[in-house]
Amino acid sequence: SPVTVGVAVGIGRFESQASLRYSPEAKALQQTVAREFNQVVAENVMKPQYIHPSENSYFWDDADYLVDFAKQHDMAVHGHTLVWHQALPDWMNTYSGNWDDMLKEHITTIVSHYAADIDSWDVVNEAFLDDGSPRQSIWQTNLPDYIAKAFNYANQADPDAELYYNDYNIAGMSKKLDAVLAMAKSLRQRNIEITGIGFQMHIDRYWPSLDNIREAFQKTVAAGLKVRISELDIRMNVNGTETELSPELAHLQQQRYQDIILLYLNTVPEEYRGGITFWGVSDKNSWVNYYYQHADWPLLFDDKLQRKAAWQGVFNAF
Ligand code: XIL
Repeated sequence: SPVTVGVAVGIGRFESQASLRYSPEAKALQQTVAREFNQVVAENVMKPQYIHPSENSYFWDDADYLVDFAKQHDMAVHGHTLVWHQALPDWMNTYSGNWDDMLKEHITTIVSHYAADIDSWDVVNEAFLDDGSPRQSIWQTNLPDYIAKAFNYANQADPDAELYYNDYNIAGMSKKLDAVLAMAKSLRQRNIEITGIGFQMHIDRYWPSLDNIREAFQKTVAAGLKVRISELDIRMNVNGTETELSPELAHLQQQRYQDIILLYLNTVPEEYRGGITFWGVSDKNSWVNYYYQHADWPLLFDDKLQRKAAWQGVFNAF
C-alpha cells in the first residue's frame, strides 16, 4: 500500500538520546533509518526553542542536516512543530510585543525556509486538554485566535504544504477528539486550510481499544480530514514491573502493532491517509524511557538496532 512510513530522529548536540548527527552510533542509525523508512521527522530540532532561539535569529543547521539526509536518501520530511506550549525559547515566554506579528514572522520564516523540501507540517501541537477545553498557554493568553492564524500563515507561506493539527489521547478520548474536530470544522467554515489530524498514539498494550481507535479514525474521515498516525510507540511496561521484554511480551507487542497498522489500512481510505510515523528508531533511544523514568521497549528495533517481533507485526500488516 502506498503509505508513508516515517520515523522521528534526534539530530542536535543537545539530544539526550542518540543523535543521527553526533552520537557514536550515528552511522548505524543513519543506515537503519535510510533502509527501513521513507520519511523522517526531527524529534526536537524544528521545535521553536531550537530553531528560533532568539527573536531575531534562527538556527537552521541541525534541521538542514536532516533535510539534506532525507534528500540524499530519497525520503520525505514532515515538519514538527510550528506552535506548541512546550519547547519554547525564553524570549517567547516573556514576549511583550505584538503577538500576531510575532506568530506570523515565526511561521512564515520557517515554512518558507523549507517550502521546497517539506511537504507537510504539524502547525499546532497539543492545544486541547483531555476534557476538550482549550489548554492555557502563552498563545491562548496572548492571542486567543492563534490556531486559525497559525494555519492561515502556514498556508500563505507554502500553499502546497499539507497542514496538520497534532495531539495525544485523541484516539481514545472522544471528548477531546470532538473538540479537535469542531475546531477543524470552524477553520474550514472560515475558509482556512487544514489537511488533517495527527494522532500521536503514544499508546500501550490495552489502551485505546481497537474499537475506540476505529471510531476515532472514522469520525475524522467523515469530517473530511486526513488521518496521520504521527508519533506511534507502544509501551509494554506501564507499571514498571517488567525487567525485560520477555518472548511473550514481544509477541503481544507484535500482535498489537499488526492490529493497529491493519486497522489504519482497513479503516482509512487511501486518499485520507496522511501516513504513519514511529516516534524513534530503537528502544534504547525512546523518549518513553526518560519520560516515565523506567525501562520500556516501545519501538520496532532493539538496543542493537536489530528488528524486533514488533517490526514483523508492522511488516505483516502491509
Ligand atoms: C519529545 C522528544 O521525543 C524528547 O526527546 C524531548 O525531550 C521531549 O519531546 N509529543 C510530541 C513530541 O509532540 O514532540 C514529544 O517529543 C513527545 C510527545
